[in-house]
Amino acid sequence: MSSTAPSTRLDRNELPFPPDSLTLGQLGDVLRQANRYPSDVWHARAVELIAAANDCRSAEVLLGAGSSQILDLIWRATVAPGAVVAYMSPGFEMYPIYTRRQHGVPIEVPLTAELGTDLDRLAEIGETERPALIAVINPHSPSGVRARAADIADFAARVPREVVVVLDEAYREFDEDADPRSSAELAVSLPNVVVTRTFSKAYGLAGLRIGYAIANPQLIARISEFSMPFTVSDLACAAAVEALRQPARHAARMAEIRAERARLTAELRACGFDAVDSATNFVLVPGHPGFAEHLRALGIAVSTSAIGTRLTVGDHHDRATVVAAARKYGSRLGSTTLPA
Ligand SMILES: Cc1ncc(COP(=O)(O)O)c(C=O)c1O
Repeated sequence: MSSTAPSTRLDRNELPFPPDSLTLGQLGDVLRQANRYPSDVWHARAVELIAAANDCRSAEVLLGAGSSQILDLIWRATVAPGAVVAYMSPGFEMYPIYTRRQHGVPIEVPLTAELGTDLDRLAEIGETERPALIAVINPHSPSGVRARAADIADFAARVPREVVVVLDEAYREFDEDADPRSSAELAVSLPNVVVTRTFSKAYGLAGLRIGYAIANPQLIARISEFSMPFTVSDLACAAAVEALRQPARHAARMAEIRAERARLTAELRACGFDAVDSATNFVLVPGHPGFAEHLRALGIAVSTSAIGTRLTVGDHHDRATVVAAARKYGSRLGSTTLPA
């Protein structure tokens, strides 16, 4: 980590768009009530809109302070000491933390050769090891590679019903090929599948902490038992409601991020990096452990894992900064096609 604050933040997969004046105007009234505890009214409105967008019932939706809080509740509700938890590695860095905290036994499955989720291996573990929980990130982080909806459905059908399956869809909205309803359908029709989503990434509300789960009412009730009162503020619920009421703005933003993603991928490849095709708002540069340090020394915050450097897709200024730094790194090595 660099000792000074980075000037370009490309490590947390946030959206580069701050709230616009319309959003700020809508939220002013809610902020004026901030001396009060959260009301049921905003909570219920957010739940209703999420349920309508996913063709499910309000009883099948659970709100949380970001999807990481919901994931935390899922681990608390399902993983007893000594229970097995299976997930891909590298993946979301909180999974090993939640598992250790619960005194669970992790099975960390390596990514496929294409850096995707090994659904066959996870299903096999489900059948043979009977884990308490299997967690799948789709599209995967940190690779950005998606699993097809049909393959997810086949996988879920193979997993025994006593094994809870969480489909962590933090980056779902960036995937132009994703059908937002198909995984929700799976979640409400199977007793052991829960989908988690967030307003932190594609809806640009990371600072307000709001995410949600979709599952059948029994599983929602089992997870909610571990919840605390008032974890999601009225401000967060109202911002989520406002975001869901602006589908055209959301679609335009997703199109802009996808176009930036395509440009960033192409420019990194032109610098000699083997950038991975991504279905998310980040791009993985495999290998080159020195690359992340080089970027950090230039004030660009990035995330690293065993498979490479992950760069958030930001705006065109961010891209110009990172591509200039990537060119410098390539020229220092004296080659346009970089050795891995
Ligand atoms: C794969 C994955 N899941 C879940 C989250 C949690 O996001 P939040 O708690 O902001 O909803 C993140 C955040 O980076 C993530 O990368």
